[in-house]
Amino acid sequence: MNYIKHFRIGVVLLICVAFLMLSAGAVFAQANPKSSPERLVMPTEKLQKGFEKWVGLEKGSGPWADYYKPVPLHMYWSPKNHYIRPDVSAFKNLFEDYASGDCMGCHDEVTPGIVRSWRDSAHAKPRRTPEIAEKTRAIEEKAGITIEQVTCNFCHGESHDELFMPVADDVCKQCHRQQVVEFASEIADGRPSHQASWISNVVVPWYIEGFRKGEQYSFIGCDQCHPAMEKCDACHTRHKFSSEEARKPEACFSCHMGADHPDAETYQESKMGVIYEMEGETWALDKGLNDVELGGSEMRSPTCQTCHMYNNTTGKWGHNVTSKGRWRMGTFPPKQVEYKSSMKDYPYGITIPPMDKKIDLYDGPNNKKLERWVELCSNCHSGRFARLWFEALDGYMFAAYRKRDEAQLLVEECFDKGWIDVNARDPYPMGDVIADKLGVKLLGEGVYKAFKTTGGKVPVVGPILGVYANFRHDGGNPSAIEVEYGNMWFWYALKGYKGVAHGQQDYAWWWGWAPMVNQLSRIRSQHDMLERVYNIEKKLGIGLGGGK
Ligand code: HEC
Ligand code: HEC
Ligand code: HEC
Ligand code: HEC
Ligand code: HEC
Ligand code: HEC
Ligand code: HEC
Ligand code: HEC
Repeated sequence: MNYIKHFRIGVVLLICVAFLMLSAGAVFAQANPKSSPERLVMPTEKLQKGFEKWVGLEKGSGPWADYYKPVPLHMYWSPKNHYIRPDVSAFKNLFEDYASGDCMGCHDEVTPGIVRSWRDSAHAKPRRTPEIAEKTRAIEEKAGITIEQVTCNFCHGESHDELFMPVADDVCKQCHRQQVVEFASEIADGRPSHQASWISNVVVPWYIEGFRKGEQYSFIGCDQCHPAMEKCDACHTRHKFSSEEARKPEACFSCHMGADHPDAETYQESKMGVIYEMEGETWALDKGLNDVELGGSEMRSPTCQTCHMYNNTTGKWGHNVTSKGRWRMGTFPPKQVEYKSSMKDYPYGITIPPMDKKIDLYDGPNNKKLERWVELCSNCHSGRFARLWFEALDGYMFAAYRKRDEAQLLVEECFDKGWIDVNARDPYPMGDVIADKLGVKLLGEGVYKAFKTTGGKVPVVGPILGVYANFRHDGGNPSAIEVEYGNMWFWYALKGYKGVAHGQQDYAWWWGWAPMVNQLSRIRSQHDMLERVYNIEKKLGIGLGGGK
């Protein structure tokens, strides 16, 4: 127990935020003009290089390279790093019937569905309408090529001997430079972002711990929601690659839903989502976002894309969803709240941007983002209505952070007073190696020492690292009270956030605030029970209370 008193609990609470939020931010975007997602996780070039050998399926990369090995499906989720060609020797007969360059002929037999989808696409019919023909002409001019059709081999190679899966930078960029560059510009906004999707997934310590414990396939859900977006098929699916599909809110639903980010649910049941549901079919979804008339019969209420692809810098719609994010995922403590728990010491000496500070909702950049939001809403609402809505969102979030602070104080007391035995349970995920892998410069002295001294047997609760409570349960770690707290902030507080942000009243209250304060009651009861058990043990001279 001594070390816990020694290194105030607060110091260790959010350590691995390091892995979660090592956003390089704009500074690095300038230092290195190349857009590489590694820069969103590692603050120095040297550490970024740790990802260089991220190839094939034999070895992982980054700080945990030695502790995990990609599962075979990773070759599709992150083809740039992991793709391996298939062995087609079992299909010898087919290759006798078709020339190896006859992709379409053979694949009409092998994967007819894919060929049919492709035949429906602008890639198969690049002059289908005058508008598309005009865009094709522009592409031809810029790329200096003539395009009959964009056939299989443009995106997969000339034969099976050189088969590859297409990556935006190598393939799509030849013809769609603007979209690829815009999309990569998310890097300037740090994490979370589509650019960081895959790296965010595989770099968190509980993910790697799962691999170490042989439970790698438990993460199939994470992998599918967090693919490397370099393959560009998240919103316009292969092989139709349709803009119209990508403009529909459903294009976002499969990933932006569920316990910790119910964007689909909150949007769908909001008045704006309901209007889309009722009359979206008649809207002009074949028109580009920059051309459509907002508010009229072409699009009477906004979609996810209308709101999130409106760019803070350019004041136009484009391939960047992060430029107006203020609260982002809602997981970082704001400066505007006075904390009583260890959250007041956040970021605990950690030196990695943007983790080296709390969110300041009203600093220059965030004020500018707010103005852009209001400008957007003002297409269809009064400016005052929009502004007051954001005031309500911020007020709700501050109040929710105060509730989380109360809960965190209670959980911390349980550890401070020794009512829970940290030594009797498994260490924090990867806790035995975290100190050595990240080092004192990144972790800050307190956090580094706590891990170094205890081998990871330290209590870690609260945003963000305490979320491991929702992912890994090994040898009594986490305890029930920690799980209750994990659910309070990672599920209910985040549900309430999206309820308010998206104007969905039921989520704001019944799935947000109400169960959140419910959790606080459970936490208080657990806290009191642990205290009473400890005091009884003390009287009897047994168990933890008796010093055993
Ligand atoms: C003679 C038949 C034949 C021809 C010709 C052929 N393929 Fe294939 N291709 C196959 C078969 C069979 C598979 C499935 C392999 C498997 O299931 O493991 C396949 C799989 C693929 C895959 C998926 C690979 C993976 O990792 O899942 C792609 C992409 C592909 N082919 C592209 C092409 C392209 C591009 C061409 C033309 C250059 C082409 N194919 C020509 C038979 C053919
Ligand atoms: C505009 C680019 C593009 C074109 C053209 C294209 N593909 Fe693909 N294809 C993709 C992308 C992107 C993926 C997904 C890559 C990944 O999952 O890593 C993919 C994946 C595949 C796969 C494996 C995944 C699966 O669902 O089985 C097959 C097979 C395939 N393509 C076949 C074809 C065939 C056959 C053609 C020609 C009719 C074709 N592709 C044309 C971009 C393209
Ligand atoms: C050889 C050039 C070429 C390559 C490579 C290419 N495309 Fe295209 N793409 C076109 C042309 C031409 C069109 C039709 C004109 C237009 O809509 O811009 C098009 C259209 C599109 C559209 C819009 C279709 C619509 O319904 O409006 C999407 C989305 C798209 N491509 C995605 C991709 C992705 C993703 C990749 C990489 C995996 C890719 N393309 C690779 C040439 C290419
Ligand atoms: C294949 C899954 C997938 C699809 C489809 C998808 N996203 Fe995402 N999105 C993600 C993931 C995963 C992240 C977070 C990545 C990370 O952890 O860094 C994200 C991040 C974001 C963010 C930034 C979040 C923040 O906190 O700043 C926004 C905004 C966003 N997506 C909007 C959209 C919209 C709008 C659509 C549809 C047009 C969409 N996404 C489609 C998976 C997806
Ligand atoms: C978050 C969802 C999302 C992702 C991921 C995404 N797109 Fe798009 N894409 C869209 C939307 C929405 C549109 C329609 C934009 C509009 O109307 O202005 C679109 C349109 C396009 C178009 C047609 C542009 C035109 O003017 O006709 C191309 C080409 C395209 N995307 C390429 C890409 C490429 C390349 C990537 C990967 C680098 C990519 N997209 C990734 C959502 C996405
Ligand atoms: C009426 C506009 C609007 C619509 C429609 C909308 N959102 Fe949002 N969304 C917001 C606002 C406002 C926030 C909070 C922004 C802030 O202040 O940080 C937000 C927050 C988010 C976030 C957190 C990251 C961020 O940018 O702050 C994600 C992810 C997200 N929304 C995804 C979606 C998805 C997916 C859909 C469609 C299913 C959707 N949104 C529909 C306005 C909208
Ligand atoms: C249903 C889809 C989905 C699943 C499953 C999922 N995520 Fe996410 N994840 C997202 C989306 C979407 C966001 C961004 C939400 C927002 O900003 O509001 C996100 C955010 C994150 C972030 C914060 C981003 C950052 O850069 O700090 C991390 C880390 C993360 N996810 C890792 C994981 C891991 C690890 C798993 C599995 C153990 C997982 N996710 C499961 C969709 C998913
Ligand atoms: C394309 C037009 C459009 C845009 C842009 C738009 N809205 Fe809306 N919004 C509507 C319509 C239409 C309604 C339904 C009005 C009604 O309930 O009578 C609505 C309803 C709402 C509601 C529910 C109102 C109520 O009385 O319950 C809220 C909250 C809201 N919008 C907030 C916003 C915010 C915040 C933004 C900007 C981030 C925004 N909207 C952007 C069209 C839009």
